[in-house]
Amino acid sequence: MISETIYERKYHPHPINKNTFLVTGGSGFIGSNIVEYLLVHGAGKVRVLDNLANGYKENIIPFLNHPAFEFIEGDITDLETCKKAMQGIQFVSHQAALGSVPRSLANPLATHHANATGFLNMLWAAKETGVQRFVYASSSSVYGDSPELPKREHVTGNPLSPYAVSKMSNELYAYTFSMHYAMKIIGLRYFNVFGPKQNPDNPYAAAIPLFMKALLKDQTAYIYGDGEQSRDFTFVENAVQANIRALFTTHKDAFNKVYNVAVGESISLNKLLKHLMHITGKTISPVYKEERPGDVKNSLADISRAQQYLGYNPLVKVKEGLALTVPWFKKTFC
Ligand SMILES: NC(=O)c1ccc[n+]([C@@H]2O[C@H](COP(=O)([O-])OP(=O)(O)OC[C@H]3O[C@@H](n4cnc5c(N)ncnc54)[C@H](O)[C@@H]3O)[C@@H](O)[C@H]2O)c1
Repeated sequence: MISETIYERKYHPHPINKNTFLVTGGSGFIGSNIVEYLLVHGAGKVRVLDNLANGYKENIIPFLNHPAFEFIEGDITDLETCKKAMQGIQFVSHQAALGSVPRSLANPLATHHANATGFLNMLWAAKETGVQRFVYASSSSVYGDSPELPKREHVTGNPLSPYAVSKMSNELYAYTFSMHYAMKIIGLRYFNVFGPKQNPDNPYAAAIPLFMKALLKDQTAYIYGDGEQSRDFTFVENAVQANIRALFTTHKDAFNKVYNVAVGESISLNKLLKHLMHITGKTISPVYKEERPGDVKNSLADISRAQQYLGYNPLVKVKEGLALTVPWFKKTFC
């Protein structure tokens, strides 16, 4: 069972013991955090659909004996699997995708298959089964080469990677499905989410888990570029809050929209690493490497739309989030 949790705060308006949820990608980082929230707060049923492609099965082991938890090992690129997973479900949280800009440049077909075709399958299956809500993960990568800061939802640029294209396609499909099939769909553009359950052990791991691992295991930390690139790093509890609020919003104008999910503050990679050194009490000198193609220089979100329509209020700032994340990494990897 769930012995320790960061999900004491409640973001849903009424008891959820009669509600049924499908979380795709639920053994991944963000998905398994959403599952944890739902189980901690007494959800009636939480079904996960994940093919474990990037999955980290350890993330769902604490849930396996929970009576409300179900796991389907399956692929969203298979429409029948999506339809089966959708049976008896009211609320869909779609997180499954192949993340990472470099991965999408190395294998754009795989990214397209999972992220674009898989997404369309999920939408179609949701339409056919008539779910109440469909909330999905988009990404700040859709801002592409737009120089505008902070990023506002209606000003996007040209995509800089196949990954960004796949997420843009999600938003376009969601828009047309909302319009033509009267579905209640909400897209969430995450900005660099971090926190417990984020796996540092895959070839496309994100910066924070890699820094954590380097610090805790006395390994080399690599920074691509000069480290002055900045990001609106978002602790996962904030991202979960956004998902829960989107699943249960009663604002009549909240649907068929996309929302930035971030904190609204940015920090450079160099500064972030310094904070981590302070928290862990360790010092390392990072090795700087060539900038990576497809990476954006600066990223900072305007979160006012999510505040206005969803009541989103990110309570955990980056330093507090890092302090909450380090103990999990220590317990899991040391
Ligand atoms: N972590 C971030 O900072 C971030 C930022 C922007 C957007 N996102 C998006 O948020 C979502 C969750 O990201 P995450 O960081 O938790 O990634 P993750 O890789 O930890 O989780 C994604 C999960 O989806 C599963 N999956 C992949 N392809 C699948 C398929 N074809 N069928 C079934 N399951 C499949 C993987 O096995 C994995 O468990 C993704 O859609 C990602 O693109 C994440």
